[in-house]
Amino acid sequence: MAKTTRTQRNDSTGKSTPNWHARVAELEERVAALQALQESARTLTSELVLDQLLAKILQNAVQVMRASAGSLLLHDGETNELVFSVVQGGGGEALKNTRIRNNQGIAGAVFTSRQPSIVQDVQTDKRFLKGIDTKYGFQTTSMIAVPMLHKNEPVGVIEVMNKKTGDRFNDNDKELLLAFAAQSAVAIQNAQLYQQVVAERDRIIVVEEQVRRGLARDLHDGPSQLISAIIMEFRFLKEVINRKPEKAQEELVHLEELATHALHQVRNLVFDLRPLILETQGLAAALELYVQKQRESEGFNLQLDTDGFTARLVAQSEAAIFSIVQEAVNNARKHAEAKNVWIAAQQKNGFLTITVQDDGRGFDVASVEGGYSNRGSLGLLNMKERAEIASAKLSIASQVGKGTLVSLVMPIGGDPAPKTK
Ligand SMILES: Nc1ncnc2c1ncn2[C@@H]1O[C@H](COP(=O)(O)OP(=O)(O)O)[C@@H](O)[C@H]1O
Ligand SMILES: [Mg+2]
Repeated sequence: MAKTTRTQRNDSTGKSTPNWHARVAELEERVAALQALQESARTLTSELVLDQLLAKILQNAVQVMRASAGSLLLHDGETNELVFSVVQGGGGEALKNTRIRNNQGIAGAVFTSRQPSIVQDVQTDKRFLKGIDTKYGFQTTSMIAVPMLHKNEPVGVIEVMNKKTGDRFNDNDKELLLAFAAQSAVAIQNAQLYQQVVAERDRIIVVEEQVRRGLARDLHDGPSQLISAIIMEFRFLKEVINRKPEKAQEELVHLEELATHALHQVRNLVFDLRPLILETQGLAAALELYVQKQRESEGFNLQLDTDGFTARLVAQSEAAIFSIVQEAVNNARKHAEAKNVWIAAQQKNGFLTITVQDDGRGFDVASVEGGYSNRGSLGLLNMKERAEIASAKLSIASQVGKGTLVSLVMPIGGDPAPKTK
């Protein structure tokens, strides 16, 4: 090492040498690169649309590194793969969305080791995936790959290839790209969080829409029809009073029946929307009333056992649990063709367990849950989210032909074990 510093010593004597010019040029280049980095940090943090952000990141990386091509791979936590999310240069589009295992190729090695890597001759590197190059339609010679780390966890990899000047990538380049990747990881995290919030908002809108549609249908099929019948009955009554007044009493009795029925339906609807008893008397009482109302109108045998369950929970949890039970019972009625449905609530050792079980046809829970993105309805998903609101653990066990068991377990009332004084 000491020998190679000779030219630098010449520099420090003040003698003008060609190396001195080269050094200034190198520093200028570095300052320019850092400026570009700072500039790109500013634009990245304001980009919240993930696809656009990723494209910008890679574009800036390739530009700042003066590279000819590049790719950005994001980690897919579900499959543990790296996905070529953006590709620039060559026949990039063909490579886009290609997946590799998270430890495959140079990108995989960088991802799993969390260490950057400069490769001067990619073609002789054992880790290099030749298939990728072919798909890319690009002859890679040298490249730098760096991990994008967020809070020390790798979220993906940025690779840039072939310096435009034909030079080799050096340690300065590596440091620069690392700093850039760290900034990018933060921006990606922001954009992902933002997308989650937007997706959640859209989902809420969809659910609200479903509830409104359901309510409109129920109002139309129920009370609306009955009120129409009442109006017709009134018209008929007017004639009866003129022609056969002695029959009026009979018609009035019928009218009263219809009106009572309509009132009953409206009350049921109101109860389904927001059972007042839930707020005044709590979950156990609301479940009792719910079951009673369901029995009046449903064909199956609905049993409730709230043995020993008396505790009041915070209002939000009670409402969440109540609607989980409603959804589970509705599902048993709508989908299961069950003969029996059992609801049970049990309070034991500081835990509340609520179960809804049916003896119906059962279903494949995993495949229903896996297919939610293609479905219009979100019942099971809503149950899960409501369980979270109540800090409860929800599990759905079902087997085709053997019925379904929805259970909900949550801690209640602070200390499970009574303290000795
Ligand atoms: N208790 C059950 N018995 C049989 N199948 C069920 C049951 N609960 C849910 N399923 C199945 O799961 C699907 C998803 O249920 P859900 O998310 O509540 O949506 P929806 O009830 O609107 O169809 C149902 O369409 C049905 O196929
Ligand atoms: Mg449902």
